[in-house]
Amino acid sequence: MTNLVQLTKDNGIAVITINNPPVNALSPGVPEGISEALDQIAQDDTIKATVLIGGGRTFVAGADIKEFGKMTSGKSRGPGLLPLLLKIEDSSKPVVMAIHGTAFGGGLELAMAGHYRVALSSAQVGQPEVKLGLIPGAAGTQRLPRLAGVAKAVEMCAGGNPVKADEALKSGIVDRIIEGDLLAGAVAFAREVAHKPARKTRERNEKLGNTEENAQICSSARETAAKKQRGLLAPVVAIDAVEAGTKLSFEEGCKVEQKLFIECLFSEQSKSLIHVFFSERDVGKIPDIPKETPILPIKSAAVVGAGTMGGGIAMVLANAGIPVVLKEADQPALDRGLATIRKNYANSVQRGRFSQDVAEERLQRIKPALTYDDFSTMDLVIEAVFEGMALKKEVFKELDRVCKPGAVLASNTSTLSIDEIASSTSRPASVIGTHFFSPANVMRLLEIVRGRATSKEVIATCMQLSKTLGKVGVLVGNCRGFVGNRMFGPYRREAQFLVEEGASIEAVDRALTDFGMALGPLATGDLAGLDVGWRIRKEYRHLEIPGIRQPFAEDRLCELGRYGQKTGAGWYKYDDQRRAMPDPLVAEHIAKWVAEAGIAQRQMSAAEIVDRCLYALVNEGARILEEGYALRASDIDIIYINGYGFPAHRGGPMWYADTVGLKQVYERVSEFQRQHGEIWQPAPLLKLLAGQGKTFAEFSRDQVATA
Ligand code: NAI
Repeated sequence: MTNLVQLTKDNGIAVITINNPPVNALSPGVPEGISEALDQIAQDDTIKATVLIGGGRTFVAGADIKEFGKMTSGKSRGPGLLPLLLKIEDSSKPVVMAIHGTAFGGGLELAMAGHYRVALSSAQVGQPEVKLGLIPGAAGTQRLPRLAGVAKAVEMCAGGNPVKADEALKSGIVDRIIEGDLLAGAVAFAREVAHKPARKTRERNEKLGNTEENAQICSSARETAAKKQRGLLAPVVAIDAVEAGTKLSFEEGCKVEQKLFIECLFSEQSKSLIHVFFSERDVGKIPDIPKETPILPIKSAAVVGAGTMGGGIAMVLANAGIPVVLKEADQPALDRGLATIRKNYANSVQRGRFSQDVAEERLQRIKPALTYDDFSTMDLVIEAVFEGMALKKEVFKELDRVCKPGAVLASNTSTLSIDEIASSTSRPASVIGTHFFSPANVMRLLEIVRGRATSKEVIATCMQLSKTLGKVGVLVGNCRGFVGNRMFGPYRREAQFLVEEGASIEAVDRALTDFGMALGPLATGDLAGLDVGWRIRKEYRHLEIPGIRQPFAEDRLCELGRYGQKTGAGWYKYDDQRRAMPDPLVAEHIAKWVAEAGIAQRQMSAAEIVDRCLYALVNEGARILEEGYALRASDIDIIYINGYGFPAHRGGPMWYADTVGLKQVYERVSEFQRQHGEIWQPAPLLKLLAGQGKTFAEFSRDQVATA
């Protein structure tokens, strides 16, 4: 037997233990080991029943995701799990699956092949394959409806969300919840059932329902998927697979599932989602900051500024159990900030996210302040005052004076130089950028901005902090706009140019939401406030190079007082529930402005809109990558997916460009350069890689490897 699987005996009950840490993934060797154990059990007359359990902290948490990549590159196409699962099910001695931790994906499929399942009350089961653009591929779509009924199976396979043990018991996936020691409970259960005939899951057809009901269940699930998982193929395919199973024999149903599984496995969507899965794990790998870098303990924190961002950041810290001092400039601003925090917590309680007690506890952790008196003991300070260098420097000078040595001094600035802010202190090594996204308590992204002098300990601490806060922290360099906003500029510039050249506002937004963006670029402007960019542009107007075209429509809208959602009107007009509606008045204004400016109007296809906006992102992303402000292309992808509503199933902007092919992207960018001038000059890296027939992903691997 392989060393990943052990077989022991406990007075007539065989115990198969999978030991493949950390999550007992079904890597090569595990199925073989289980199979060999079953052979031995079959030959041993002293054994009456079997318990299969996971060693360590979990049952089988899923398939080995690396294996999926190998399957598509032709390196591994074994028989899969199906034969093993049939062998388990065909065993004449009952097999009891003992579940703790999680039984996800292949883990649940394995568990369902047993004759019984027992679980700790803390255990969870699920078929999360759709989150990787896949469907269950080892009869999950066929056995689950036989245990849990068609509606539950459809919900689990299409939604991908975990199900807790008590719910699994109710729906028939689990037969008993074990209190106390799982193995002892499972062995006792196995003794109870040892002499009963072992029932095969695949022969339990009584929960498969009738055609009419199933058609209804599946069609409403398809509607939900179209709304909640817009653009994703796998959820719909998962529903198809379950539905097919209700109409066919188990064997035929498995064949349909296999075919659909392979289609998903080779789809761009699945490859992209698997890329995102691994990329999210890669963000923590920083070549010059080894794992052993000491991490400073963050047991207390202060936030300066209780506005939009400061209030949200204070909540994020409090939610993670870190006590926070929240400092404002004056009492009315402090009261306003606290009122918003209270309202946000009340909303969460109302929506059932957590109880009133939890909300109170969190609120109690936020201590309002008008002075820096309590700052001397703080481990971390995050500054979120108005965006202005003079004010930021003043605040940091004060922090330098009052904070203890070793405290992490972070700024939430979205555009200002961390180095310049740090220069106002005597300890630039302790200064770093922590760029949260709005609303800070909701958005997962945290750009961690490394200044020239920022110490490795401070960077490692903030990377760790991002995890504690439930965020994805991505390390970026200190350039204007950092990574996300620096790329967002050209993207939104193009959206405006398109409108100025004749595309309708709705057509621009629709082309990008059809591509998969959560929100179109113009609607995003309305949400964030058009005045923010307008103020910045006014301040930096003297830096604009004469002769280079600048968009003007948004500035004009601001001059009319149309700042977006906050004023009830921007690109769109809004009702009191902030629902966007096209505003013919804006179209009229724009028509007049472009006529005055003499900009030729023409028809534009959705494809051109998408190319113009996305390649503007990609071209700037290539510059950022080449200049080293992002460690790897996949970090940029993670930033865009978690901070800017880029569809995960497209893998992020850089991955998307790789899938299109950089040669094609380069040619299109060059074409835009001929049509629209120097703002479209191809990034040197894009030109280089296109010429070499390489991808951003390959470039990143070489870079990180040699760093
Ligand atoms: P805001 O205007 O909502 O809040 C700023 C707050 O700082 C105000 O309540 C003000 O009274 C307070 N303040 C000013 N001086 C202070 C002092 N000396 N001590 C204590 N409090 C003081 O601004 P917002 O939007 O929260 O932005 C804060 C920072 O976060 C800026 O640097 C901004 O660029 C950045 N940011 C903003 C994002 C957004 O979407 N609003 C997104 C990401 C970053």
